Order: sequence, then structure tokens, then C-alpha cells
Amino acid sequence: MLEASLVKELSRYRTLPDKLRFLGVRIRQKNTQVERFSVALYQPTTDKVRTFFTTSPTQEAISHYDFPLVEAWSLRQIALQRHPRVINDLTQLVPPQQTGKVNPHTQKLVEQGWRASFTSPLLCGDELMGFVFFNSHTAYTFRGDLLYELELYSQLIAQLIYQDHAAIRTLTAAVRSTMALCAGRDPETGGHLERMAQYAQLIAANLEPKWTFSDRQIQHMLLFAPLHDLGKLAVPDRILLKKGKLTQEEFREMQNHTTRGIELLDNVVRTHGLENLPDVQMLKNIVLYHHEKMDGSGYPHGLSGEMIPIEARIIAVADVFDALTSERPYKKAWPVSVALEELQRIAGSHLDADCVEALLSQQQQVESILEQLQSDVVEA
Ligand SMILES: [Fe+2]
Ligand SMILES: [Fe+2]
Repeated sequence: MLEASLVKELSRYRTLPDKLRFLGVRIRQKNTQVERFSVALYQPTTDKVRTFFTTSPTQEAISHYDFPLVEAWSLRQIALQRHPRVINDLTQLVPPQQTGKVNPHTQKLVEQGWRASFTSPLLCGDELMGFVFFNSHTAYTFRGDLLYELELYSQLIAQLIYQDHAAIRTLTAAVRSTMALCAGRDPETGGHLERMAQYAQLIAANLEPKWTFSDRQIQHMLLFAPLHDLGKLAVPDRILLKKGKLTQEEFREMQNHTTRGIELLDNVVRTHGLENLPDVQMLKNIVLYHHEKMDGSGYPHGLSGEMIPIEARIIAVADVFDALTSERPYKKAWPVSVALEELQRIAGSHLDADCVEALLSQQQQVESILEQLQSDVVEA
């Protein structure tokens, strides 16, 4: 059973991945056959389940993997019944003649030598936050008291994730509600922000082997991307809403939305006591550097190449791509293939070539994001 000291020991670790890693070691120490546990989060808006954290003694872990919950029959049952599921012999689910018909996740686990699994829904009240998976190389591991113990661990993990989410949600909600107060001022619409966030997440998930983002960072990319133009709140209406060409002076003031964004963000972080939240730096880099260009001709600091934080380079590609494929009062929406060609043309000078390549490699996904979120046309 879990000792009371566990919660105290957990408080020594600051970040959620560190806490989960500690739990993984603890579980393994006490139950040597439980060799791996992983966490996948559920996104209600897209109905997708996405890998978030995994601890594994080998490099075989499944990561950067997502799928619609509606297509995962057995996970859906766990979600609906709010009840854990034990499979004590995974090979039974993948008889040789059925290869190709089973859930690819299950098939992968069997190929990697896993034989038993315990899966529990992560719940906060009645809200489904995701799933925790415990795996063993030994069939029939999950029996007796171990089931109760893992159920308690699952509840503890649900709480840790809820706390962590609450902090990130406080930050994004505070920024978003500030931005919403000024809705209608910025010609960039909600549709643009949702789409570019999805593109940014897609790029981040496909930058390996050059860059490796954890599933958690990829998740945060989605939350942070729509906040990139936060600083426009500080740009006066006469400039932000001006129909004609900006004067040099006005353009300079418009460019200040990057540095003003950081001031606003620092304020929100301080007000809500979120200074120690991991990944706040990632958000700051997005807000400050998303207009920098690879050849150094961008703003506010004229950084070039690798000097520009990778998260800002990702946002730049996502932002430009959505602008090209969206209809504007002065232009028609470009077809995806033409917009991608344009990105390739400016890769290396304006945009990061690896980020462009990552988007290019996922054309099918790009088309489906566009189809799903193709909503708004900006009014003149
Ligand atoms: Fe911007
Ligand atoms: Fe934008």
C-alpha cells in the first residue's frame, strides 16, 4: 500500500515529469514486474488521446502518438465505465492471423515484448483527463493486492496532473481572458489562432531527430501558440485598425507588440504567482521572438538562425502558413500545395527550413486541420 510519506517525498520534486519519474522508480522498486508506466491525456475539443509521459527501462516507449478516442474501442469502454481494465495476456489480443486488424498501439506493445497491462482512467470528478497504463513483460502480473495499489497510484497521478494543469490553465486563461476583453480589435480571428496552434503542434511533433520535444512540451505548444500576439493589446487602435499603409513611425510602434507582450506576460505571471511554472520561458520566447527571421532581418532584436529559440521558429511557420491559406479582404485563400511551395521558397531566409520540412511531411494532417477548422473569413 502507499505510505503517507510518499506525498511528502513527492513535494520535493518541482515539475510534473520529475514527480512522475519518481513515482515510476518507486512503483518498480516495490513491484519489480511493473516495468513501465505511461500517461496519455485526453483532449475533449478534438476527442483525441495523446501520449504525455512514459517511463521505460528501454528506449522502446511509444511517444508522440495520438488517436481519436472514438476509434479506440476498449479505451472508450474504460472511459465510459470509469473503471480500470486488466489484460493479463496481451498476445491473446493479437493472434497471428489477426495482425493488421488489432489496435496498432496494442500490436506495438506485443511486438516490444510487453505481455500484461493495467489501464485506468484518470478522472477529476466526472471529467476524463486521460489514462494511465502500467505494463509488464510477464503475463498475469496484475492480480490481487497489486490491483488496489495501482488504482491508488492512478488516483495520485490524476491529482498531480490536475494540479499541474490548473497552473498552466491559470496562466493561459488569464492571458486569454485579457485578450478576449479586447476581442474585435485585432483583425486576427479565433479561427486563425486555433488553426495555427494545431500547425505549431504538428511541426513540434515532427522535428525529430533534430529537435526532440517531450509530449508535454508539444501539448503546451498548442496552448501557448494562440497567445503569440498578446502584445497587440498595447498597440493603439489608430495603428492596429488602420486600413491603409502604416507610416514608418507607426510600423515601429506595431513592431513593439513583441516587447510589450513580454511586459504584459511578466505582469500576469507575477500576479498569479506562476514564476516557477516550467515552460513559462517557452511562452516568453514565443511572444518575444515570433517575428525574427533566419537571415537576421526580423524584429525586435534581429536575431538570426539558431539564435532564435526553436519554439518561436515553429510559431513563425505556423503563423505564415495560416495567413497564406486564409482568405483576407485583399486576397483569396491559397491552396495548400501553393502555400507550401511558398514556405519552401522562403525557407532558410525568412523561415526555419527544418520547421517548413516538418509541416511539408504532414500534408495530409495539414489538410484535415484546415478542413476541420475552416470557419471564418476576416471581414473587411
Ligand atoms: Fe505578431
Ligand atoms: Fe498570427
